[in-house]
Amino acid sequence: MAPVTAPADPRTVLVTGTSSGIGLATAVRAAVSGRRVVATLREPGRGDALRAAADAAGVGDRLEIVRLDVTEPESVATAVAGVISAYGRLDAVVNNAGVGRLGTVEQIGVDAFRSVLETNFLGAVEVTRAALPHLRATGGRLIAVSSLGGLIGQPFNEAYCAAKFALEGFLESLAPVAASTGVTVTVVEPGPVASEFVTRLTPSVPGLLENAGPYEAAFKAYLGATAGLFEQAQSADDAAATVIEVLDAERPPFRVQTSDAARGLAAIKLADLDGAAVQAFTTPWLS
Ligand SMILES: NC(=O)c1ccc[n+]([C@@H]2O[C@H](COP(=O)([O-])OP(=O)(O)OC[C@H]3O[C@@H](n4cnc5c(N)ncnc54)[C@H](OP(=O)(O)O)[C@@H]3O)[C@@H](O)[C@H]2O)c1
Repeated sequence: MAPVTAPADPRTVLVTGTSSGIGLATAVRAAVSGRRVVATLREPGRGDALRAAADAAGVGDRLEIVRLDVTEPESVATAVAGVISAYGRLDAVVNNAGVGRLGTVEQIGVDAFRSVLETNFLGAVEVTRAALPHLRATGGRLIAVSSLGGLIGQPFNEAYCAAKFALEGFLESLAPVAASTGVTVTVVEPGPVASEFVTRLTPSVPGLLENAGPYEAAFKAYLGATAGLFEQAQSADDAAATVIEVLDAERPPFRVQTSDAARGLAAIKLADLDGAAVQAFTTPWLS
């Protein structure tokens, strides 16, 4: 790994999933904030947009692109060891890599379900385990890009919501333990964000309709009810601004939403003692 030119600010941030969307924007914004950024992605061939954005922002020399697939423990260990060997410190990690998956478990099967958990949940667990000793050394920050889907179970998004709920449970448990050693933990919860995320979901719709079985009417209603959801989506750059606020905050919160819309929905869930409010919110999507 060739070190990038040492900037005045030695704080080093590792971000996962930076080929597009929130991860790309976070990596560039973190570099613009003066930090040194190790922007990781699983396919080095997908780094052109990131490189172009960093160069356009004038921070190409503060951002290094490194391979890291969160589902491959060896690549996680190699990337983290590379940061320490090149820069001697790790001040923050942003667990951003994630994938969505439409369909109930009966439509997509357990293997596909498991793969969503592997990326969104166990991948972040792996990165966290590798990073924590180094974050302890700097009194650093552990951040995860969760989702409103980590708070509100959304119909036909079982695997994704299960993975994000698990991510939040993992980090809520870890937060006080990590804090006892000087490491802060934060989950960032966006609502809909305009990125490749949704375009990667939609190609599966025709196949899912074919095998929807008893859920065909509900699935069609869901598609209709949520069709406009991303029309008012927040930009990835806007969502990334919240991640940078967490990096900059003197006392980062455990949980933060990236928009007023996301705050409104999170507030429904966090006051929903018997679960009725969330069911009343999501059930109409299916009819
Ligand atoms: N978009 C939304 O509406 C929304 C809302 C709430 C939360 N989020 C969350 O925000 C995060 C970023 O998503 P996004 O909206 O920016 O979508 P995106 O543009 O699709 O970005 C997802 C990133 O994750 C990477 N990734 C996927 N699997 C990976 C793996 N095994 N190892 C390493 N990287 C991997 C992708 O890399 P490749 O290019 O190699 O596939 C890509 O860089 C995700 O955690 C997502 O769940 C998104």
